[in-house]
This record gives sequence, C-alpha cells and structure tokens, in this order.
Amino acid sequence: MRSIAATTLCIVLTLSNWACAPDPAAPGGASESTKPTIALIGATSRSGREIIRLGLAQGYRIKGLARTPSKLGVEHENLTLFKGDVRDQASLEAMLDGDEVVVSMVGYNTPVDPLAEIGEVDIYTVMAKNLIGAMQAKGNRRLLIASSTGVEHRVALDSERPDPKDYSASWRWNARHLYNDMYLMEEMIAASGLEYILLRPGFMVQEPARGDMKIDTAGATPPARVITYADFAAFILANLTTSDYLNRAVGLYSDTAVNPAAELEKVLGKPPGSIQ
Ligand SMILES: NC(=O)c1ccc[n+]([C@@H]2O[C@H](COP(=O)([O-])OP(=O)(O)OC[C@H]3O[C@@H](n4cnc5c(N)ncnc54)[C@H](OP(=O)(O)O)[C@@H]3O)[C@@H](O)[C@H]2O)c1
Repeated sequence: MRSIAATTLCIVLTLSNWACAPDPAAPGGASESTKPTIALIGATSRSGREIIRLGLAQGYRIKGLARTPSKLGVEHENLTLFKGDVRDQASLEAMLDGDEVVVSMVGYNTPVDPLAEIGEVDIYTVMAKNLIGAMQAKGNRRLLIASSTGVEHRVALDSERPDPKDYSASWRWNARHLYNDMYLMEEMIAASGLEYILLRPGFMVQEPARGDMKIDTAGATPPARVITYADFAAFILANLTTSDYLNRAVGLYSDTAVNPAAELEKVLGKPPGSIQ
C-alpha cells in the first residue's frame, strides 16, 4: 500500500488532448508487452517534458515526480503525477512500487548568468543517497540518471580562476562544485549494486530532434557540443530495458560545437556579435 508521506500527494491526471495518440513513427526501445512503467524524477525538467511527450506517444505509462506537479501542465490517462523532493526519501518511496525503471532528470538550478560562480552543490549526492535508498527499499532494479559531459572536463575545486574572456574555461571553473558533486553521485551509483546508466549529455537545446547524436563510453566525450532534448529523450526511451550501455557512463554529443559567446549573448539578451 502506498504510504501517505506528509509531503507527498498523488495526483492522478486523466484525459488529455495532448500527446494522446501513440506516434507510429516514434521507435520505442521495448515491445508493447515488455514496456516497463517509467518512474520519472524531475518531471518538470526540460528533458523530463520531452521524455513525457515522446514516452506517452510511444505508449509508455509514466509516473512523474515533481516538487510542484501543477507546473507541468500536462494531463494524460497514462501519466500519474506525484509531489515529492529528492531531498525527501519517503516521497521517492511513495511513488515506487518496485517494478518501474527509474529515470532521473533532476538538476541544479543554474544561475541565469552563465558566468556567475556556482557555490557549493550537494543536490546530486543527496539525490543519489535517497534514490538508492528508496529503490533498494522498494525493490527497483534499474536507474537511468542524468549527469553531464562536464564531469569528464571538470576542474579541481582548488584550481586557479581562468581568464574571464575564456568563456568555456570560465564556465568549467564557475561550475566546478556542481561537476564535482555530479562526479561523486556517479561514484555512489556505480557502487550501489543497482543496474544503471549514467547519462552524460552535452549542451542541450529545445529544437526538433536532429538525429545527429553520437555516443562515447570511453570517458572521452568531446566538450561543448550541442544535442537536442528530443534526441536525448529518445536515447533514454530506447535504452530503458536494453543491456547495451548497462553499468556504464555514456557521453552524448554531436559534431556541432557550442558557440559560448553566442550563447552568452542569448542569455544576457545582448545583440549578436556584441560579445567577442
Ligand atoms: N540542459 C543542459 O544543457 C544539460 C547539459 C548537461 C547535463 N544536464 C543535466 O541533465 C539533467 C536534465 O537537464 P534539464 O535541462 O532538463 O533540467 P532543468 O530543465 O534545468 O530542470 C531541472 C529539474 O530538477 C528539478 N529539481 C531540482 N531540485 C529538485 C529537488 N530537490 N527535488 C525534485 N526535483 C528537483 C527541477 O524541479 P522544479 O521544477 O521544481 O524546479 C527541474 O524539474 C540535469 O541533471 C542537468 O544537470 C543538462
């Protein structure tokens, strides 16, 4: 029986005109009969929204956990939303029955200004501890979790501050606490005894799928490459039950490089070409 955790409210949402019909063109990773239920942590994330859109179109049943489920704005008969927080293990246990594949897209809320230094971060290691605990308590076996290509290119916490005009190096330095916490999360999951895939996406953009995503499993993912949320979500859905990348860290990138100055202009609302 589902426990009534004080902070946990299960909201069953029904009947939608959004993404109702299975998309025959959308390839699924598992056949109808073997499709697992997805327990999606971080349902309101940009990646989570794509997983929900594509997953429902492929006929998956999805349980989504969010701190504020109403933010999602999506209703569907195969989507059940739960209120919870990865800092609260009981709220994770309350959504799990033991047979779901758990997918986490929870991430640190990065500052709007990408050149702002990020202080100490613990969300990834706290999430790892509570997710592992909840999955072990409920009997769930498999976890696909977002990390980042940045883990492979992280700099030491005590490294020297780079020239601020070097935007890529500055981003890595400003986010060194974040990537260090992500790295420690990966270590915890790898040692947990769960089946896992550590997903290390590059810089993600909200555009239609490009089908150009490349995969690295040797820890040599090229830095600062652009992929789409749609391709990322498709990869996750295609590998919910496969053994291809099991118990590995998977770098997801493309041949398209990020232009750090152009991205900075977009975020800061400055005209193109104004930042060199
Ligand atoms: N976007 C990129 O370019 C990129 C690149 C590499 C790696 N990643 C990683 O990929 C993952 C997904 O990225 P994204 O851009 O889709 O994420 P996002 O849009 O930034 O969303 C982050 C999500 O984490 C949730 N969250 C934060 N703290 C939480 C908590 N304590 N309990 C429950 N949920 C919490 C947020 O919920 P609320 O709605 O309640 O705030 C939000 O849904 C993240 O781990 C991110 O670090 C992203």
